[in-house]
Amino acid sequence: MNDAIRPQPGIMDIALYQGGKAHVSGVANVVKLSSNENPFGPSDKTKEAFAKSVHQLHRYPSTDHAALRQAIADTHRLDAGRIICGVGSDEIIHFLCQAYAGPGDEVLYTEHGFLMYKISAMAAGATPVEVAERERTTDVDALLAACTKRTKLVFIANPNNPTGTMISAGEVARLARGLPPQAILVLDGAYAEYVEGFDAGLSLVEAMQNVVMTRTFSKIYGLGGLRIGWGYGPQAIIDVLNRIRGPFNLSNTQLETAEAAVRDQDYVAKCRAENARLRHWLAEALAEVGVPSDTSMANFVLARFASTEEAEACDEFLQGQGLIVRRVASYNLPHCLRITVGDEASCRRIAHAVGQFKGLK
Ligand SMILES: Cc1ncc(COP(=O)(O)O)c(C=O)c1O
Repeated sequence: MNDAIRPQPGIMDIALYQGGKAHVSGVANVVKLSSNENPFGPSDKTKEAFAKSVHQLHRYPSTDHAALRQAIADTHRLDAGRIICGVGSDEIIHFLCQAYAGPGDEVLYTEHGFLMYKISAMAAGATPVEVAERERTTDVDALLAACTKRTKLVFIANPNNPTGTMISAGEVARLARGLPPQAILVLDGAYAEYVEGFDAGLSLVEAMQNVVMTRTFSKIYGLGGLRIGWGYGPQAIIDVLNRIRGPFNLSNTQLETAEAAVRDQDYVAKCRAENARLRHWLAEALAEVGVPSDTSMANFVLARFASTEEAEACDEFLQGQGLIVRRVASYNLPHCLRITVGDEASCRRIAHAVGQFKGLK
């Protein structure tokens, strides 16, 4: 290798993102509960739009995403001009770091926060700063205390992944108001649709000049495989992000499928209700066999074990039965396993298997 060819400083310090496992060697029919996917997939109307898009494969897609932005704006009563769409919300997170943080700048996120905040901050050459949580919940006082004049971005997910916990709208507003003037608060709403009646902080985005929201089609819309997300923020910030967005970052298929998905809110409501019912059932069933969890507001439960060894042994046991959950040591939670709320049969299987594991010891 030519030693003169080197990446930017810090790039080689980035630990590769590990996605949720999808296979267990020697097991044919696995149940994948490791990536917080919607077990029911996308709605029929969404699948129809996907199929229809095949007729447009020879055409370049729209560069301004006008139809999808309008559909999102109609659904959430927003200003379409202040929406930006990307290749998953990951890409919006990446744009924010690339545009607003560089060498010498700090990017804050919470102790058990989503790994892409750190990765995107480091990719931009900025300094990632991990801030302690309180009982696996975002701690606004700790975040405010960690701010300096170098802080450029503060990321929180509400509800958070992998903890499933939330903070109140009042706490989020207190955080936004308390930030130093050069810092942007990013509200990651990847799981917002799972919370009944929750505006995900959109009213705060409207009220403040320093708040941006990110959202995704990967979770409740059942489109994780297609890669579509969006952001909403002050016009000046969205205009900046659009300058670094590739003009054809989303294909016709992505745009048309997402448009159909966001217009089908009846399906979203159905998935939200079913998730809430099964999440409650699963958390109770796990608690009954001695595995507690915090009240989750998302589509997963963070199962807590007595030790790292017990969590790892349980994971091995589950894999032996073809049940794949997520180890979360990389989120500073080595004694926990994150279990996506699947369909009813998967919830029953996993609860039964964890019970068997606990009984075996
Ligand atoms: C908190 C959080 N934010 C963002 C994302 C990224 O979602 P996507 O890039 O699929 O839109 C995820 C995915 O797991 C997540 O958990």
